[in-house]
Formats: sequence, C-alpha cells, structure tokens
Amino acid sequence: MEKKTSNTNIFASKVGAILAAAGSAVGLGNVWRFPTETGEHGGAAFILIYVLFMLLLGVPIMVTEFAIGRHGGSDVSGAFEKMSGGRKGWRWMGLIPVVSGFLVLSYYAVVAGWTLYYAYVALMNGFAGKTAEEFQTDFEAFSSDSLSPVFWTVLIIAMTCGIVALGVQRGIERGSKIMMPMLFIFIIVLVGCSLSLPNAHLGLQFLFHPDFSKVTSSVILSAMGQAFFSLSVGLGCLCTYACYFRKDVDLMKDGLSVASIDTLVALLSGLIIFPAVYSIPGLQPDAGPSLVFITLPNVFQQVFGNIPVLAYLFSLIFYLLLVMAALTSSISMLEMSAAYFHKNLRLPRPLAAVVVSLVCMLLATFCSWSFGDWKDVKIFDMNFFDLFDFLVAKLIMPIGGMLMCIFLGWVVDEKVLRAEMTNNGTLRSPLYPTYRFIIRYLAPLCIFLIFANELGLFNFFTEA
Ligand code: PFF
Repeated sequence: MEKKTSNTNIFASKVGAILAAAGSAVGLGNVWRFPTETGEHGGAAFILIYVLFMLLLGVPIMVTEFAIGRHGGSDVSGAFEKMSGGRKGWRWMGLIPVVSGFLVLSYYAVVAGWTLYYAYVALMNGFAGKTAEEFQTDFEAFSSDSLSPVFWTVLIIAMTCGIVALGVQRGIERGSKIMMPMLFIFIIVLVGCSLSLPNAHLGLQFLFHPDFSKVTSSVILSAMGQAFFSLSVGLGCLCTYACYFRKDVDLMKDGLSVASIDTLVALLSGLIIFPAVYSIPGLQPDAGPSLVFITLPNVFQQVFGNIPVLAYLFSLIFYLLLVMAALTSSISMLEMSAAYFHKNLRLPRPLAAVVVSLVCMLLATFCSWSFGDWKDVKIFDMNFFDLFDFLVAKLIMPIGGMLMCIFLGWVVDEKVLRAEMTNNGTLRSPLYPTYRFIIRYLAPLCIFLIFANELGLFNFFTEA
C-alpha cells in the first residue's frame, strides 16, 4: 500500500499525480482538436507524424517541466531560480505560465462552454427529430449569439474556479480521480457502439492507412502543434503541477504514462468519431471544427434514429465526456495563474482563483463574440479567438518548450539534473542519456528548424 502524505499542498499519492497530469493533457485537444486536425490533414499520415513528435519532443519536454517543477517544490518562479543554482535572473521564466494561463483558458473555455451547452441540450433530449440543416443553423445561431454562449462559458469557468479554490488535494487531485476513470468508461462504451455501426471499416481505414502524398509543411507544423497542445507542454502548466509532486515520483516513467494515456484517448476518440461519420454515406471527415457540434449530433440521430433511447444516451454520454475532458484541462490552466497569485502575491487560494477567473471571464467573452458581433474586430488580421490560439499554440508553446530544454540542458548543473531524474540515485533511469541528448540538441534544433521554415527562412518542404 502506498504511503500517503500529510502535506495537503502536494498530491497525496503517485496515482493522484499521474491522473492530475493526465487530466490536464487529456482534453478537448484529444476529443475535439485531434479528430478535426486528423480529418483536415488527411488521416493516418498525420497521426504517424503526430505520434513521432509526441515521443521525440513532447515527452522529453514534459519530463523537463516535471523536473523543474518538482525540484523547486514551491512555485514556478522559485523553481527556475533554485534549479539554476540560485540565479535570480531566471525567475522571469516563471511568468510564462502566469500569462499563458490567462490566454489559454480564455479561449479554451469558449469551446468548453459549447460542450456544456450541448450536454444540456442532450440531457433535455433537444436533438430528437432534427434535420441536418437544423443542426447547422442551430449551431451557427448559438455560437454567434451575444449572450447564450457567454453564459455557458462563464459557467464552466465558475465550475473550474470552484475546484481550484478547494486546493491541491481536495480540489485538483480529487476531481481528477473522479473524472478520469469516468471519462475512460464513457470512451470505451462509445467506441464499442461506434465500431458496430455500418461502414465502420471505412473510418478505420481513414485512421490507419497513411497516404504520405498529403504531407506538406503545414501538416508537419500542425502535427507538432497538436502534439504540444495535446500534452499541455511548453506553457509551464505541467511545471506548475510538478511543484506538487512527491519526491518519490519517477518523472520519466510518469511522463511516458501520461503521454501514453493521452495518445490512447486521442486514438480512441478517432475510433468514436470516424466510424460514426462514415456510417452515413456522403458525409466527409474533414468537416473542420463543426465536426463535433454539427456533424456528430446529426450522425447520432440518424444512425440510432430507430431506437430513440440509444440516440439519447449516445449523445448525452458523448457530450458529458467532452465536458469532463474540458474541465480537467481548464483546472490546470486556471491553476497556472492562480498559483502565482497565491504563492507569490500571497492571496488566499480561493481569492486568487476568483480574481483569475473574473479576468478570464471577461477575456473569454471577447473570444466568444469573435464568432458573432466581433467577428470583424481583427488584430494582426485575426479575431480574438484566433489570436489567442495563435499566441498559445504556435508561439508560446514551441518557444517555451525550447527555452525550458535549453535551460535544463545547458544552464542547469548536470549533477542537479541527474539527481532529479534518478531521485537522488535511487532509480536506474536507463533512458537518461537519450533524454539529455534530446533536450540539449534535438529538441531545440527541431523546433528552431520548423519555426524557420514557417517564417520562410528555409524551404525544407514544398507545399503540395
Ligand atoms: N492538453 C489540453 C487538451 O488536449 O485539451 C489542453 C491544454 C491544457 C493546453 C493545459 C495547455 C495547457 F497548459
């Protein structure tokens, strides 16, 4: 039996730590963004590149974040200072998660709010008898409304705030321990149903037969972006959580476990969505972000139309799954900024959570209006929602990930790093040399090259 700790400011158990980190990683990125990106970028070839990025860059950066956070043990700014051997100049790196927390939650909560609304409609049996056109017009009318989506977005931020305010063990850890197993059960039930639909094999073929002629530079960049987003790496989110890890957690093993859970959930979501889409002739898997909010509710009604109770249950379980996935991730986003206000500015935890939530509610309102009244309000040619997504996924994540690798690979004393990865020599860690090579050379170089390519400095890949 694992010994529990009496310190309520750290995760009580090793399982709790894994589930919390997995809760952050598994989210709309898996169930909504992954199938969308896969659909738009040609299926299996995209998945292969994505998995490669997960292993080569994602997991090492995740472990890097774990090491920095756990070594610090208190707050992220302090962790950078301590790990650099007491150099105060590195404290600024701790601001990355604070700023990112606000940015990422503010737009993520908009889509999370949509899922909450759809779960509510499913509960009220509001999808019954609707036609394909009605699903389309309903979603467009809802998402472009000035009030309704804002209400659901504010509600999901308030729920997130309630959990974060409860603290590390009673809020974050307990929430993850309840929601993650439920999420898994829901997924398994839905995969079973989806695979039994007519033409399910076409969905499987789309997912598992790669067509490399579809691979272009933008596919490669998107696959890297998706791997980073899906694992929550680069923003310092996992660094924040790792401050609450116990000293006996095996960082390398946990990093691999979290990445495996994350990839598994992404693939299983593909197994729910693509067989369902192919079960109706004429529907396309590349329907973009509308896949989950227009195409799927329509599919559920059509394929289970003869047995209304199945259509009801399938829709309800699917949207509840999305809500839980979104919630465990938004908790980690709110925690990034709230932890700073709590630890560095000494606000009580509940007050810190409320302050950050209120700011996010305001910013999220602007992001929500990007789909309606403010769709023509542009900064750098992007509306608020797209701008926040661009800043987070295309800029801060890769740059943050690269900086953290350079920090740990080149600035931190190798003995300190080795001690952290091997729990002071008590673990064997056979992967340590490979890991160190990746964070010193491979990861910074790869990220730089992909960036340079995107900026047009080199042209490695020609567009199809
Ligand atoms: N990994 C989450 C998802 O796949 O939905 C999203 C996310 C959570 C991104 C936390 C960034 C973050 F810091």
